[in-house]
Amino acid sequence: MSVRALLTAVVVLVGCGTPTPTGRAPASPGTAEAATLPPPAPPASPSPSAPLAVRRQRLLEAATIALPPGIAAESLPDPAAPGARVLQQYCTQCHALPSPAMHGAMDWPAVTRRMWVRIDMMAGDLGLRVPSTAERAELLAYLQGHALPVAGSLPPGVGRDLFATACSRCHVLPDPRMHSPPDWPVVVLRMTENMQRMKMQQISRADASQILGYLQTVSAVVRR
Ligand code: HEC
Ligand code: HEC
Repeated sequence: MSVRALLTAVVVLVGCGTPTPTGRAPASPGTAEAATLPPPAPPASPSPSAPLAVRRQRLLEAATIALPPGIAAESLPDPAAPGARVLQQYCTQCHALPSPAMHGAMDWPAVTRRMWVRIDMMAGDLGLRVPSTAERAELLAYLQGHALPVAGSLPPGVGRDLFATACSRCHVLPDPRMHSPPDWPVVVLRMTENMQRMKMQQISRADASQILGYLQTVSAVVRR
């Protein structure tokens, strides 16, 4: 029973985090069919005879791929805010302390919703602390209040397209004007480290420096 519950949790966890269309047979023309017919045979897995333990292990491994790299508690903005306390209390139970600047204000509701599902489902078996509704609201307000500023229209320039594709894979595309030209190198360097830690495809050195050049040009023009 508890094993089943854990498995269900794992499936939800992975299903939520990694929508991978791969491995699915193309749907038959009438998609409505799917709703009425009994589900087709399970998708051909690479090794249908793999013992459950191995499959479970794969799921657990897969679930760790996008874990956010932690930030130091001291560097949290507005650390006395109630939401900052909620973040530290409940959001460090499975991974390191996530930064409120990791997502734009529009994206935080969906990310926190995914985390609430996990907490609610796993609370019993794993003894997680479960936040109240009021605490959830406080946290969301805090995250949105210190969210990543989103880029508006981007002026043309060398590196613009690279920036737009490489820097929107984990969060919304950040506003180049949020940092001054001398501050951007450290941030871009940290992002390449984040790509490593979150097991995302790396960008080449040349691409990174082109992106940096673009960010510095745009932020310089505006700030003067
Ligand atoms: C029950 C364990 C658990 C708790 C508690 C938890 N997380 Fe997560 N979190 C995960 C797992 C597993 C992943 C990786 C899979 C994924 O991205 O969904 C993850 C990934 C993330 C990511 C990176 C992926 C993304 O979409 O950006 C962020 C950000 C995040 N969590 C924020 C939070 C916040 C905020 C809280 C507190 C409300 C929290 N987490 C609490 C398990 C947890
Ligand atoms: C692998 C996922 C990932 C990719 C790809 C990524 N970021 Fe981030 N980004 C993060 C995480 C995690 C945080 C929050 C923790 C931190 O600040 O390191 C963040 C936060 C930020 C912030 C807010 C924090 C600050 O110091 O201002 C900025 C700005 C930013 N990213 C810019 C970029 C740029 C520019 C790129 C493209 C070069 C990029 N990101 C690509 C994961 C990523």
